[in-house]
Amino acid sequence: MKVAVYPGSFDPVTNGHLDIIERAAGVCDKVVVGVLNNTSKTPMFSAEERVDMLKGVTRGLKNVEVDSFSGLLVDFAESHGAKVIIKGLRTVADFEYEFQMALLNKTLNQNIETMFMMTNSKYSYISSSMVKELAGFNGDLTGLVPAQIINKIKQKYTG
Ligand code: PNS
Repeated sequence: MKVAVYPGSFDPVTNGHLDIIERAAGVCDKVVVGVLNNTSKTPMFSAEERVDMLKGVTRGLKNVEVDSFSGLLVDFAESHGAKVIIKGLRTVADFEYEFQMALLNKTLNQNIETMFMMTNSKYSYISSSMVKELAGFNGDLTGLVPAQIINKIKQKYTG
């Protein structure tokens, strides 16, 4: 069984993330979405909220699971029996960091490969930080994030 892990902060999940999850689910037996629960960062959404949002938006994908992690990504992947880490690349700006991470993760665990998927060009300009900035100005989030989480994001700003 080919299990892949798709890690990220997902603060919040965007349509770009969802597109990668759907495409990865089409080529792997199982995709485990790994939500980083990093205590040194202050995310807008708690790890539990991010996991719930991801579970909601991937409900129709039967071979997708969502879990949070707080240690090394390679250890999370191994704990799920995953030999592949999936990463999305939007532009060349993503490349250098991802290249470094892929080499580091390979050094940490020789048995795990990082595989890259090019982001759908429709979503190449979307990032979670842009979504939060736009939401802070009460901008329209239609098409940027899954429709069912738009109100959850807005509530963070309206209280
Ligand atoms: O969505 P992001 O914030 O770009 O995702 C980054 C993520 C979660 C993929 C990365 O920070 C990560 O893998 N963190 C886990 C810790 C780890 O294994 N770091 C690499 C070796 S120090």
